[in-house]
Amino acid sequence: MASIREILSRDPDGATVVVKGWVRTKRETKGTVFLELNDGSCFRNVQCVFDAATLDANSRNALERAGTGAAVAATGSLVSSPAAGQTLEVKASALELIGEADPETYPLQKKQHSFEFLREIAHLRPRTNTFGAVARVRNRMAFAAHSFFQERGFQYIHTPIITASDAEGAGEMFQVTTLDLDAIAKGGKSVDYARDFFGKRSYLSVSGQLNVEAYCMALGSVYTFGPTFRAENSNTTRHLAEFWMIEPEIAFAELPENMELAEDFLKRLLSSALDDCAEDLEFFDKRIQSGLRESLEAVRSSKFAHMSYTDAVAELEKRKDSFEFKPFWGCDLQTEHERFLTEQVVKGPLIVTDYPKELKAFYMRANDDGRTVRAMDVLVPRIGEIIGGSEREYRYDALVGAMKAKGLDPAAYGWYLDLRRYGTAPHSGFGLGFERLIRWVTGMENIRDVIPFPRAVKQAEF
Ligand code: 4AD
Ligand code: MG
Repeated sequence: MASIREILSRDPDGATVVVKGWVRTKRETKGTVFLELNDGSCFRNVQCVFDAATLDANSRNALERAGTGAAVAATGSLVSSPAAGQTLEVKASALELIGEADPETYPLQKKQHSFEFLREIAHLRPRTNTFGAVARVRNRMAFAAHSFFQERGFQYIHTPIITASDAEGAGEMFQVTTLDLDAIAKGGKSVDYARDFFGKRSYLSVSGQLNVEAYCMALGSVYTFGPTFRAENSNTTRHLAEFWMIEPEIAFAELPENMELAEDFLKRLLSSALDDCAEDLEFFDKRIQSGLRESLEAVRSSKFAHMSYTDAVAELEKRKDSFEFKPFWGCDLQTEHERFLTEQVVKGPLIVTDYPKELKAFYMRANDDGRTVRAMDVLVPRIGEIIGGSEREYRYDALVGAMKAKGLDPAAYGWYLDLRRYGTAPHSGFGLGFERLIRWVTGMENIRDVIPFPRAVKQAEF
């Protein structure tokens, strides 16, 4: 059995093929039945044409019952198609009905469904054009990310998902426990975490960074790519409670090298999307975000702009009145600010550096000015922040000082501080939010529509 993707790349030589897939549509005119089959291997369907009169009783019965959503196997010969917009079709001689889909209850009928509705049937939405395309782009972007790093000699490190440390120091973690909380609450006792599974409070990791830094200080160039979890109570089109992050970390590297890596990485991902997912991107360009491909092509051949946070705020202050949230030095950049900078000021990707230390995590290297840290956020049009990273504070005393200033207990980060005690060295890294990337390259608006089964505030179905 060949995939539809493979079949559609062949010549219409009349050879016998068997196509297995799901019926997208069925049409009938004057005894000829047209089944559009899709198997997910590519965007396109293959059209199978049946002359009902020539079929045997089994096939005729199968054809009768094979409605939208049914799983079928069609056998026939591959011929050139007279229909517009397709070069090949299958002149079918037999049909097997593998799995029926009752048209009375099958939720995906021919009409357009809203993304809101499709979110409620997340187990069936991959059978639509849009979600099939999103899944294929996602797959290809993961492959491109690994290829990019592997070709450059980076080692892939599997960092833990369960952790006792808050990697961002922001306290937005989901707790992991096997304690019987109901019983403890009923007994009116306080919780004794020494009796919990790990013997201490533990959580789902917000980032693999701290662990990957340990391997960076041994293997040089490393990355991790895995799920991360944040209990941020933000119900937006940009935030998930469970998302995937790609985090490279490079030894003996300062911020400029990190910025260069981020730019090369994003361009490589875009190139792969444009070249390897051309058919899916054509759909997104036509149906989801007009001008998408052109905007991605432009980024591929651009040079990313650089701007310090201080200069960025100065730009924003010139246009104070256009913002809901008034910008000032020391304010956290809101998405409206980020988008203004990248879309209006530099008209392309922008790397903002050297943020006030109060806005950023404890592990970022302090600048000599005493006010800012060597942070970098990469902002891109339509999305805003897509990458966050920094040069790391590699000086023991400065790191301990930064932890204390943020109210964190250095004793809780003993192993991490060891990296600064023994053979410390400058190093830098960043995190790319994988779903933000997929939003960018597909033009999909809501982050819940670029991950198969989204987890967000009050949403953990499926
Ligand atoms: O800027 P963040 O918080 O940085 C870190 O986690 C660092 N430890 C990364 C590093 O230096 N190794 O997150 C990195 C990126 C953001 O730029 C954004 O793209 C994405 O992760 N992100 C989210 N994506 C979806 N939902 C959320 N709740 C996200 N929070 C961050
Ligand atoms: Mg960030």
